[in-house]
Amino acid sequence: MPKPLTRRGLLGGSAAAAAALCAAPFVRTVRAAADDRLGGLPVRPPSGLPARTHEMTLVAAEREGAVLGPGRPQSRLWSFGRPGEPVIPVIRTRVGDRIRARLENRLPVHTSIHWHGIRVPNGMDGVPYLTQPPVQPGESFAYDVPLEDAGTFFLHPHCDESGQSGRGLMAVLIVEGDAPDGYADSDLVLAVKDWRLDDDGSFLPFETKEGAGRAGTFGTVRGTNGQAGPMRASVPTGGLVRLRVLNVDPTRILQLGVEGGEAALIATDGQALQPVSLNDLQDGVWRLGPAMRADLLIQAPARAGERLRVMDYGSAEPWLAAELTAAGPRLGRPAFEPRPLYASVMPRPADPGAAERLSFTFGASSGQDAAAEIAAGLPPGDPLAKVLLDNLCVKDTSLWAINKVPWPAGPNAALPPPLGGLVAGRPYLAEWINTTPHPHPIHFHGHTFEVLSYSRQKAMPRHLADTVLINPRERVEVAFTAAPGDWMLHCHILEHLEYGMMGYLRVA
Ligand code: C2O
Ligand code: CU
Repeated sequence: MPKPLTRRGLLGGSAAAAAALCAAPFVRTVRAAADDRLGGLPVRPPSGLPARTHEMTLVAAEREGAVLGPGRPQSRLWSFGRPGEPVIPVIRTRVGDRIRARLENRLPVHTSIHWHGIRVPNGMDGVPYLTQPPVQPGESFAYDVPLEDAGTFFLHPHCDESGQSGRGLMAVLIVEGDAPDGYADSDLVLAVKDWRLDDDGSFLPFETKEGAGRAGTFGTVRGTNGQAGPMRASVPTGGLVRLRVLNVDPTRILQLGVEGGEAALIATDGQALQPVSLNDLQDGVWRLGPAMRADLLIQAPARAGERLRVMDYGSAEPWLAAELTAAGPRLGRPAFEPRPLYASVMPRPADPGAAERLSFTFGASSGQDAAAEIAAGLPPGDPLAKVLLDNLCVKDTSLWAINKVPWPAGPNAALPPPLGGLVAGRPYLAEWINTTPHPHPIHFHGHTFEVLSYSRQKAMPRHLADTVLINPRERVEVAFTAAPGDWMLHCHILEHLEYGMMGYLRVA
């Protein structure tokens, strides 16, 4: 698929944006790796298994589903799962495999698939207009996705995401192969997502003015794995449980904790770190913004019938997300001493201090002026200006911005110039600054980065991520090696990205 926008002229247009990059003073404060949890991880041995190709058709279609529960009204969902299948399907693969997926769009609007956290070739990244044309109703698109990293991932559309994912359009993607044999006795998925449903099962508006301009619009019904209410599962008595937690909510920030048992964080956004006990983290919780994942290793209760609770302390009242009940004969597991998963294959930047510096601020939009500025910045007759977005992807106002530049609002807006130009293969050290009174989970496509420091969050281990939660008025530092392509950089609170907190970097 030829990329419509690869031209040199655009880089000239990004000079102003590049200048803005340097506007904020960059003070390097990378701390000594006080809690460097990435060192000393075991290296994954060759599996000896032949690589497989998973051929699949993902049909995006409307269907009925009982999200509210048995005996309650059904909802008109949008889902990749066929009727009778789970609303949010779980695809299991193995590292080194590849997925050949045909997206068939049977929805009334265009869509695409973004493989969140998977380091795909740019043309497979699923961003309409930027990396591929939108897949119109009745059309299809062939994705070819290599799976170089093991871990817990998900896939979702990338336009009107609050509406499309809000109706259920997404899937969990598990890439196995990061655990030694016999690592855990049970491997469970906990995908947390609320639903904006009325009592009659119909969807409420996915966006509100108040939500879009603040912390986002919350669901009315809390849910897990595509159903209302907590997940309930049996686990082997005394056994080790790998719980893959995904925050696939558009808005909510989870504060994960475990009651009634011991638990350790073993992977962030799919990438291993030296296990860290939840008790050793600030407030005994790990915070997960939208799109973030955390793999936990939990020891199941020692007596059959006993229960363990996975809680979200982020809501007004602590919320039970999962209840795991011990069942069956007791397994002879030793005392809880979690082993690490295999190290990520991402090369760590040898000396982040020597890397080139970048600075981005995530803030409020100064309004339409900035959008007009972008449009005015394009030379007359620029073919780029002819590439029109339709108003499905962006709203008629912008409330949020990156480096003071909001993604342009309104119908017929041109694809803006990139936020900056990077050199493929070069290491970068970026500071990301949240200038607002709201937390923002910032996601960078196509890359896995190392989170080096936080200015406000305490007791944070060094870890790898594709999405990092930045507290109000906080500055984080991340390091990565640039991969070629046009890669989105945006907040993953869906109303924030749709109302302007979105841009892209051009790596050539
Ligand atoms: Cu999970 Cu640009 O997205
Ligand atoms: Cu945000």
